[in-house]
Amino acid sequence: MSEPLLIDKSKKGRKAYCFPALDLPRGFEQALPELPSQLLRISSARLPEVSELDVVRHFTKLSTQSFGVDNGPYPLGSCTMKYNPKLSEQIAQFPSFTTIHPLQDLSTAQGCLSVMYNLLEDLSSITGMSWGSLQPCAGAHGEYTGLKMIRAYFLKRGERGRTKVLVPVSAHGTNPASAAMNGFDVVTVASNKEGRVDLADLKSKLDDTVAALMLTNPNTLGLFEKDILEIASSVHACGGLLYYDGANLNAIMGMATPGDMGFDVLHLNLHKTFSTPHGGGGPGSGPVMVNDTLRPFLPKPDIELTDGGYAYSWDRPDSIGKVSMFWGNFLVLLRAYVYILRMGSEGIRAASSHAVLNANYLKKKLEKHFDIPYSGTCMHEFVISCEKLKKEYGITAQDIAKGLIDEGYHPPTMYFPTIVPEALMFEPTESESIETLDAFAESLIGLLERSKKDPAYLKGAPYTTPVGRLDEVRAVKEPDLHY
Ligand SMILES: Cc1ncc(COP(=O)(O)O)c(C=O)c1O
Repeated sequence: MSEPLLIDKSKKGRKAYCFPALDLPRGFEQALPELPSQLLRISSARLPEVSELDVVRHFTKLSTQSFGVDNGPYPLGSCTMKYNPKLSEQIAQFPSFTTIHPLQDLSTAQGCLSVMYNLLEDLSSITGMSWGSLQPCAGAHGEYTGLKMIRAYFLKRGERGRTKVLVPVSAHGTNPASAAMNGFDVVTVASNKEGRVDLADLKSKLDDTVAALMLTNPNTLGLFEKDILEIASSVHACGGLLYYDGANLNAIMGMATPGDMGFDVLHLNLHKTFSTPHGGGGPGSGPVMVNDTLRPFLPKPDIELTDGGYAYSWDRPDSIGKVSMFWGNFLVLLRAYVYILRMGSEGIRAASSHAVLNANYLKKKLEKHFDIPYSGTCMHEFVISCEKLKKEYGITAQDIAKGLIDEGYHPPTMYFPTIVPEALMFEPTESESIETLDAFAESLIGLLERSKKDPAYLKGAPYTTPVGRLDEVRAVKEPDLHY
């Protein structure tokens, strides 16, 4: 049942506060400066008058109506919604971190600077890159920053004709958007029958107008780009650079590095791979990491370890400048650092192998029942197609996703990547147990059976949520959030 607004629960005179007796001398307000009349209220604010218990119950109820990874499985593909360990949360709440001010004297913020410096060192070794910047606040922001560096690099070399960025058809939408925002022309690269980059198509598009190829590996079908070394040498041979979209790093951490694959610059999604909470729009963190070629172009300031301790260095003549206020989302950085320290190199490697194992286990359980267009061993995620189901029973990927909500699961990513018709993408992550994966597969297979026997039922799902099925496009384009 939907929860009424606090204003609807309001009863005149009810309150949840109790001020102490006024201890200022009478008439003190006359000593205050007068406020301009246009800033004064003409009538009192209409605020809910409610008791403390009303407020507690209201917000507790609302909290139980939203779904997070702490409530149940969250198998979003391409978005790594893994469990956020409570230890990281506890440490992120230490007052020594939360009460720090970004403008305070650096001699009193050495602990925070050491967290950022050490995190950069760890991320450099996990990715095989030279150094990075923690400023970008999301994956897309990291892409924007990385491409800005690529642009600065070619401008410095006087190669103004490099106006194109190549993006595979399976890429996340933020890739072409970030390229376009940096003023590049976006050129699409086809996928081959296996779902990987079509080498012939790529090579036919490589020339001295290409600035970069953006690629995620494994790609968004959950497939490792086996030809990555040939791809990298072909792009470099034409003078272009390689951008790695690190959204899928959870599949390879501790086992392979983008640096060894030949990438020049990448972003990481700390809010995915490094287990910091996300969803609902933030806060995130999308550090960029670079090799020596692009290091001079990193955002400034850089963090250095000097004889006098950690310091910011602003003397970076080729830097693209600052890309966010202060030093990024510090508490997200801190959580990621705690996660890396707690896991250690063995733990990081184990996390990736379990993520890949879990995805393959689930895929095996589902492949007898669902159409999985790009078969074979997957990495951390895989994509099924509901096209046949739609043709035969009128049931779409969206209907199955909505049905999963009633089964107690967060819906998977739908209709992406766009090269798979009626796509549902699953990424169980390393955090889920075999029992959870079995139960999830059973629910999905149950929904499949039901959609054949009783298609009308699934068309109406979800039934257990405070509001039923929304017109999603309208809800996004015309959000009605006012009272
Ligand atoms: C493959 C891929 N690239 C980039 C992004 C963008 O990351 P963010 O949502 O943090 O901007 C995502 C996230 O959805 C993604 O899945």
